[in-house]
Parts: sequence; C-alpha cells; structure tokens
Amino acid sequence: MELENVEKVATEEIEACEDLDQLNETRVKYLGKKGLIQGFMSKMRDLTNEERPKFGALVNKIKSAVEEKIRIAQEKLEEKKINKKLESEAIDVTLPGYKFNTGVIHPLMQTIEEIEDLFIGMGYEIAEGPEVEEDLYNFELLNLPKDHPARDMQDTFYINPNTLLRTHTSPVQARTMQAKKGEPIKVICPGKVYRRDDDDATHSHQFMQVEGLVLGKDISLADLKGTLHEVAKKIFGDERTIRLRPSFFPFTEPSVEVDVSCFKCNGKGCPICKNSGWIEVLGAGMVNNNVLKMNGYNPDEIQGFAFGIGVERFTMLKYGIEDIRNFYMNDTKFLNQFKGVK
Ligand code: PHE
Repeated sequence: MELENVEKVATEEIEACEDLDQLNETRVKYLGKKGLIQGFMSKMRDLTNEERPKFGALVNKIKSAVEEKIRIAQEKLEEKKINKKLESEAIDVTLPGYKFNTGVIHPLMQTIEEIEDLFIGMGYEIAEGPEVEEDLYNFELLNLPKDHPARDMQDTFYINPNTLLRTHTSPVQARTMQAKKGEPIKVICPGKVYRRDDDDATHSHQFMQVEGLVLGKDISLADLKGTLHEVAKKIFGDERTIRLRPSFFPFTEPSVEVDVSCFKCNGKGCPICKNSGWIEVLGAGMVNNNVLKMNGYNPDEIQGFAFGIGVERFTMLKYGIEDIRNFYMNDTKFLNQFKGVK
C-alpha cells in the first residue's frame, strides 16, 4: 500500500467499526508492533540519508492522525456501549410501586397497653397466670367453695373436676397473694378468660380482662374510687366522673358495680347510656376477709381492693363498636380503623 493512501484507508476502516472489539483489531492492524505503519518505519533503512527525515516525519504525522481518529472513534463507541446498557436497564418511573401493608396493634391490645401504662405510672407491677387453671385458684381461694350458688354466675369449661379454663383473671389475685406471703401488693393482671356463653353481639366464650389488686395498710374504698376515676379519665376522657353502686361478688365485701358518666351525652341521657346518664363499666370491691385469710393475710393488719375490667366492653364503649365478634374476625377493614389511634 502506498504511504499516502494509508491514512485514508485507515480512516474509512476506523469509521466503519461497530464496536470496541472491531476497533481494537483495526488499531492492531495499523498501529501494532507488526502493523502497517510500523512496516513503513522499517523501510527507512533502505532510504538515503536525505530522504529519511522527510519520510520519517510523514510516517509520524500519519501515525498521529490515525491514533487521533482511533481515540475519537473509541470515545464514540464507548458512549454507544453505555447508552445501550442504560437503555436495556431503563426504569419506568411511571410504573406503580410495590405496596407494603403495615399492621396495626389490635384494638384490644391498645386498650390493654393504655391501662398498663396508667398503672405502671402509679407503681403497679404486671402479673400473669395460667389460662388452664385449678378450681382451687379460680374458685375456692376466692371464697367460692364447691356448690356455692355464685359459681353459676360464671359458666365454666371444665377439663376435669379440678381443672378448668379460668373464668376470670381473679385467680392471679390468689396466686399473687400466695407468692407475696403477707407483703403489700400492687398488681394488675391482664389476660384471656373463658365462659360457656353462646357467642352473640355482646357475648363471647373467650374474652379479656384486666384484674387489679392492691393490699396494704389503711387501703380504703376511697382509694379504690380514686384509682378507678383515673382509669375512667384515661380511657373515656378527662371530664368523666364515676359512681359506685352496691353489688355482690363472693371475693369482695363490700362489692360495687362501677358506672362512668356517659361520654356521649355527658350525663344528659342518650341511647348509649339508656337515658340514665351512666354506663356500667366494671366490678370491684374491698377484698373479702375470708379471701385474705385463706391466702395468708391478716385482715386486722392489711386490707385492700380488687377490680376487674372487661377489655372488650371498654373498647366497644370507647369506639362505639356494636358487635364483639368484630374483634376476633381478623377483618383488616375493621382493624385498620385503629391505625394510629394510639
Ligand atoms: N372477677 C370478676 C368477674 O370476672 C370481676 C371482679 C374482679 C369483681 C375483682 C370484683 C373484684 O366477674
């Protein structure tokens, strides 16, 4: 090939390259150690002293020109390669994203946590006990001997004559007293309880309670009332007041039924409070002397109160839920209403 032609042919070939591999082959062909341009260099030997510098300068000029063309082509092909890669990896930002559903703390747990927060703030401990319970703790040590008529108040699932599914969280009262051996007590006991009820809008064979027990010197009904007033304010609003009505539980004497002033009509009378201005919310009382004695406490030295909160009832009243079965259906439409409530 004539020296004058090399640049032209090389340029054509370089420009025709479609990718970096082809360009590299072309570079080797012209600029490599055994390449065409090197070939011209080695021909210098055959030239005269006069011809040599001129020829050399020309070869160098062509070499630089080809190098420059290759550099430009390389840039272009590299850019082409990157663009191609970007195209194949393109992200359609208009596509809808993945939706991550977040859960919600179950409304019953929210109520329990609210109650726990309140009582922990007042220095109470949290105690738990078994759901499969002995007749001894569920009934006998709570002043309900066998054949006591008040056992009918709580239709019981018996596993065998001495073992049952606890009908209330009060057996934790007895267990705590046995464990504390005459020492003062301030506990709440949240948990599941079971009764042989037919399920309907307001009854369930399984539900939750929070039992409270305080024993100490000079604990009176006034302390019970003050404590339950705090509960009513925390759950149903600061303006709430409470009233106590005489009632009966075998494990407390005196026993009371506790009403809270209606949070809907503020006591004026409405369908929720059945026009009375008051809503019944829980049972409570001063721990019966027999219960104290049976569980190792001396009623002349120490006394106190107990109360039992129905968690479902509290939650239904608080949020105006009409059917207790809603709590157990795992219907996300129902549960999602409680997102961010607490
Ligand atoms: N244990 C009672 C019930 O389940 C509630 C209660 C607890 C009443 C403590 C008085 C004192 O019905």
